[in-house]
Amino acid sequence: MSRKISFPENFWWGAAMSGPQMEGTFEKAHENVMDYWYRTSKEEFFNEIGPNTATDFYHHYKEDIKMMKSIGMNSFRTSIQWSRLIKDFETGEADEKAVEFYRDMIEECKKNDIILVLNLHHFDMPIELFQKYGGWVSKHVVDLFVKFAETAFRLFGDQVKYWTTFNEPMVIPEAGYLCGFHYPKYVNKGKEAMQVIYNLNLASAKTIEIFHKICKGKIGSILNLTPTYPRSNSKEDLEASRIVDAFYNRSFLDPAVNGVFPEEVIQILKENDVLWEQTEEELQIIKENTVDFLGVNYYHPKRVMIRETPLDCDVWTPEQYYEEYDMPGKRVNPYRGWEIYPKAIYDIAKNVQENYGNIPWFISENGMGVEGEEQYINAEGKIEDDYRIEFYEEHLELLAKAMEEGSNCFGYHAWTGIDCWSWNNAYKNRYGFIALDLETQKRTVKKSGEWLKKITDQHGFFV
Ligand code: BG6
Repeated sequence: MSRKISFPENFWWGAAMSGPQMEGTFEKAHENVMDYWYRTSKEEFFNEIGPNTATDFYHHYKEDIKMMKSIGMNSFRTSIQWSRLIKDFETGEADEKAVEFYRDMIEECKKNDIILVLNLHHFDMPIELFQKYGGWVSKHVVDLFVKFAETAFRLFGDQVKYWTTFNEPMVIPEAGYLCGFHYPKYVNKGKEAMQVIYNLNLASAKTIEIFHKICKGKIGSILNLTPTYPRSNSKEDLEASRIVDAFYNRSFLDPAVNGVFPEEVIQILKENDVLWEQTEEELQIIKENTVDFLGVNYYHPKRVMIRETPLDCDVWTPEQYYEEYDMPGKRVNPYRGWEIYPKAIYDIAKNVQENYGNIPWFISENGMGVEGEEQYINAEGKIEDDYRIEFYEEHLELLAKAMEEGSNCFGYHAWTGIDCWSWNNAYKNRYGFIALDLETQKRTVKKSGEWLKKITDQHGFFV
């Protein structure tokens, strides 16, 4: 007997994407760090493909929005690029061409009755601000970001109800200052990474403050939560897991929702003399300006244990407290190397419900990148991505269970609508409901796109 996995009629179904990964660099006022990184080191990108054309959303947004609507999406997220919208970073003056583009794109969403979530930062620091001021380590850059946000709110705040300040802010310090795989590709810059964590939280709170002064909508933040599971129940492994959770999840989750940083993080930073520069006035701003809702990007969990292999590093980094271990028997997406563990989505929901006041939240990204999807093209030219449908259903089933138990989740956005570019993969791994032919820019709905239409029509699916 089959059973229905049901979702509310007003549930958000959709997908996320981002300006720097979709638009292409056409007519842009400035370069962001990814544009610059690609221009100066093409060989570091898969098949040397960069963001210059990307999915050319800049020219295709009308057909793309229609197409996304046709596969059942009632909502979607993209980001406004700081380096596109702003002509003069110091004053926040807007670029006219960019205003026209974003205004038309917003209008198109309205025409198609799609709820638009506009995000303000998707790892896309303008390169000029990085070179001039050091990027997110600088508090002047925090204030310039708030100016950019204010310009966006004044221009589009009456048209767009849902906004978010940052996408996955933790990736900026983690990947850019600790692990070296995102621009500026620093490794083990622990102290700078901590200042970046603080400054991003401050920027988010200051942006929320100004939003609530001039707009009537709702504003949130998109956090990548990676539930952390210890190798064993030993005191040491549990402690390692607690520290990892505090640094990588709660450093943003706690201030975003509760207005305060985790005590254990502050304590460790003080003990190691690497506490960020903060003022009482700034902490008060963080305390008073928390999010209206939360977006959670979930891809994979972290499996951790106490550090047993000495770390070859003479500066402070959170890695000295733990190491990740290869859990035997785990399921992995071989193309991305990420563990597939749907149960974590339930654990996230419970955590938000029990420890964060059951704040309204949605899954703002979840997805599976696969290489070589051409091999699954059928006689009608459609990619039969059953693996992706299975991935989504497994996660949705556990999300539905948490909602039955009272979780305040209002939507599910996949990554992503149309195949798009990424600095890690360029176009190697594809994630979309809609396939993109890079030569012709032709878009073709995949089987998962048809699946989405069906489940949105019937508000769920049968297992
Ligand atoms: C998320 C990001 O972390 O993962 C996206 O918000 C990104 O920008 C997505 O593209 C998938 O990761 P990747 O590295 O496989 O493209």
